[in-house]
Amino acid sequence: MNKINHVAIIMDGNGRWGYKKKKSRNYGHREGLNTVKKIIDESINNKIKYLTLFAFSTENWKRPKKEIKYLFNLLEAFLHKKINDLIEKNIKLKIIGNKKIFSNKLKSILSNSERITKKNNGLQINLALNYGFKEELVTSVNKLIKTKKKVFEKDISNNLYTFNIPDPDILIRTGNTKRLSNFMLWQIAYSEIFFIKKLWPDFSKKDYKKILNTYYKTKRNFGGL
Ligand code: FPP
Repeated sequence: MNKINHVAIIMDGNGRWGYKKKKSRNYGHREGLNTVKKIIDESINNKIKYLTLFAFSTENWKRPKKEIKYLFNLLEAFLHKKINDLIEKNIKLKIIGNKKIFSNKLKSILSNSERITKKNNGLQINLALNYGFKEELVTSVNKLIKTKKKVFEKDISNNLYTFNIPDPDILIRTGNTKRLSNFMLWQIAYSEIFFIKKLWPDFSKKDYKKILNTYYKTKRNFGGL
């Protein structure tokens, strides 16, 4: 049986879910956060070491200001209200993405949350915020060219936001769309990919367990036989 170290998720479909319920896109984001909580718990139950969640991309700034504000308020409120839960559950939080653009207030909330959970050694949640793989790669390459040395694969890996984190075993995308949207394109080179029709707020623990069980039985070759 394959061991699962790392699951990465593109949580797509909140907006459409909100409209489906004859409410707003933001209503869908709020419900999406409830799914996040369920999937965190189920990841802990399955002793998964890393869970990476794509919460806000470098491209998401193109959305209406009101929606962007709502998403970041939701995140701030979550970290404010739930940080003790994260500590209790032995969760370590890491932000991946370019934080430079954030307000000082948000930067400090994020770095405090990372600091407070730093010593936890249960599930590590990598929250992708203002994350885009092309930006991540360019940042890595710019660091490397300063060394004026020949570049090897491990040098690129070691300078990505995911430095020291094993590549995802599983990538899940909900929302009935089959694309990767500039998400961890280097790290998912050998991941098993699951495209799920359900919208993120409808994605259940049962759906998640089904994917994990399929993965446990999958033979992985990594290019070999
Ligand atoms: C994609 O759905 C979802 C997002 C861009 C945001 C993800 C945010 C959450 C799941 C809730 C908040 C999470 C945290 C950690 C605070 P979409 O808006 O692209 O949906 P659509 O494809 O139906 O438009």
